[in-house]
Amino acid sequence: MLNLFPGQILAVAVTLCGLASAQADGPALGATRLFQADLENGSMTVDEVRAEGLRIFCAPFNRLDGYGDGAMNPADTISPGGRPTLQGNGTFLRVNGLDAQSCLECHGIGSAATIPATFAVGGVGLASSNVIFQPRRIDVTDAAGQGLAGFTGRFINPPFLFGSGGIELLALEMTAALQQGPRAAFAAPDTDISLVTHGVSFGRIRFDSAAGAFDYSMIEGVSEDLVVRPFGRKGSFQTVRAFDVEAMRFHFGIEPTELVGAGVDGDRDGVADEVLAGEISAMHVFSASLERPEVRDWTPEAERGLDRFEAIGCAVCHVPNLYTRSRALPFRFPEVETAPQLNEFLRVDLSQSTAGFNMAPGGGLEVPLFSDLKMHDMGPGLAESFGRPDDALYITARLWGVADTAPYLHDGRATTLTDAILLHGGEGQGARDAFAALPVVEQVEVLTFLKRLRTPLDPAGDLLP
Ligand code: HEC
Ligand code: HEC
Repeated sequence: MLNLFPGQILAVAVTLCGLASAQADGPALGATRLFQADLENGSMTVDEVRAEGLRIFCAPFNRLDGYGDGAMNPADTISPGGRPTLQGNGTFLRVNGLDAQSCLECHGIGSAATIPATFAVGGVGLASSNVIFQPRRIDVTDAAGQGLAGFTGRFINPPFLFGSGGIELLALEMTAALQQGPRAAFAAPDTDISLVTHGVSFGRIRFDSAAGAFDYSMIEGVSEDLVVRPFGRKGSFQTVRAFDVEAMRFHFGIEPTELVGAGVDGDRDGVADEVLAGEISAMHVFSASLERPEVRDWTPEAERGLDRFEAIGCAVCHVPNLYTRSRALPFRFPEVETAPQLNEFLRVDLSQSTAGFNMAPGGGLEVPLFSDLKMHDMGPGLAESFGRPDDALYITARLWGVADTAPYLHDGRATTLTDAILLHGGEGQGARDAFAALPVVEQVEVLTFLKRLRTPLDPAGDLLP
């Protein structure tokens, strides 16, 4: 697995010449690079791949890795590759990217409920790690005279990656099932075909023979292409890999070869091959193997809280458990969203790995996520300000681990669970009002239940000392 790039040979040569104590600056990724072929030829164990993924996830990328965007692109100053940077030297602006050197900086807290907070690779970020994405206006002095500071764009708080393998497996299975819908509708024109999979209804689809076209208007909670995308609070990515590729570019200006091509310096910063497909794969395997959140210290009061949570309609969206049909998560490269069965190079049984999912009857896994993986309209109060039709749409937040992850909601505006619940609007308004109408003791029961939903104590398992 020792693969060297020309620029790194000098550093190795210096070492071989007996100058081991001399230390030049070098890329954070080091001299040894991981190619996709290294994973596909079976020369590495899954644990070796995970360890490499953890290392890359935590590596503080620097200029020699290709950190930052190259020369500014006046035709597109928003997309990674040619963004303006502070001091013009390719370092942190914090606004629309170049906002950290490592993934760990924003995903490093396992529990924010302990004092001091507990460290964990793949965890959440607190308010100071919020990402500011594509803002057009930031009005801190209230020049608009609204009585509050104004902001357009996305302001968003980092979630954890624990248990993400189970979420991804659900998304792949649900997508494969939903993709049958249009076929069934085409075969039976002018008939409503229900789109139900894994116990979740995504509405109906119909082929209108007079119009010669599909009627998508009855689809619920998923886009018209019927691809379930659980990652990103706006439901943007089907897999962790798809997210990671964009995260590398957005946060660091590190361009994956799978986007720009091998040997290509896409962002014109003087470095090519900034992150290889094998390296993204390793990060994917690492993240998807992180342990799932768990329930701890269950009590009769928590049980009553769960009953109330179900009775007042919270569980309509925050579905306690979804069940997969298989136990192994397929890793694929390249990924084809609508055909999850293609290009698999590795599979990991999530009941046997550190992910630790319980087996369910029928050959699948129990995924205790407290979400339906659907998008919902949460009302004007929680809406973003891009002026787009999906401004108020969010995927149902997974409540597993919620006891440890304040602040809450997409931008961290709620510092307590009660505030998070009371800020629900839109499709969540009814359940929110039912919660507000409960006697205080019963509200406390719901909170007691939520506070039993904990992050794992040792999410990376044996990888860390
Ligand atoms: C500056 C902070 C920051 C950095 C650095 C960062 N992230 Fe994130 N991460 C976030 C935020 C904020 C979100 C939520 C984004 C959204 O909802 O669209 C997120 C979401 C994610 C998700 C989706 C999780 C989910 O369940 O929806 C993945 C996967 C992820 N990040 C991986 C990474 C990787 C890999 C890196 C390093 C390449 C990284 N992140 C670096 C802030 C950060
Ligand atoms: C219509 C679907 C829906 C219903 C019903 C609903 N929620 Fe939510 N819930 C969501 C969505 C979507 C989010 C994410 C909103 C955001 O990030 O701005 C969320 C977020 C949350 C959060 C914050 C989680 C976090 O990590 O930030 C909590 C806590 C929560 N809900 C609890 C409840 C409770 C308790 C009820 C019942 C009173 C309830 N929800 C009813 C959809 C729903």
